[in-house]
Amino acid sequence: MYDFKIASADKPTLYRDLVSALEGLTTGEPDPIANMANAAALIWETLPDLNWAGFYRNVDGELVLGPFQGRPACIRIPFGKGVCGAAAETLQVQRVEDVHAFPGHIACDAASASEIVIPIVKDGKLVAVLDLDSPTPARFTEEDEAGCIAVCDVLARVL
Ligand code: SME
Repeated sequence: MYDFKIASADKPTLYRDLVSALEGLTTGEPDPIANMANAAALIWETLPDLNWAGFYRNVDGELVLGPFQGRPACIRIPFGKGVCGAAAETLQVQRVEDVHAFPGHIACDAASASEIVIPIVKDGKLVAVLDLDSPTPARFTEEDEAGCIAVCDVLARVL
């Protein structure tokens, strides 16, 4: 049993503890699906105010749904489409304060109001994207972005 109780009022500490728990969970495990599954569960338990947390994998140049927590979601997303597709195409973090104002946003859950998508790049190639959704507008700050990038740096080593 893994019982990580991570709770902190300040985001840098919260993400530092999350990164350290994620390293503990994934180090030495070579299976990428298992590592994404545990990462999605850990993020879901740790970060407040999310309605979806999970992965889309780069399968032959198309994003395909991976392990996640939350409501069932769309399965395939072409590069360039929606927030996830924009992150995949540009390899840039997409931090969207209002998803309804994002051209081409794909609404998998009508409750989503803001979203952050982080590309996970290994040896210069996109492996997957981490996608977090929130029912709260502008939920993700620069501190969240920095924390999520640190989380994805760990994942890049184990996916
Ligand atoms: N909103 C995403 C689609 C994935 S779901 O949020 C889980 C997008 O626009 O790419």
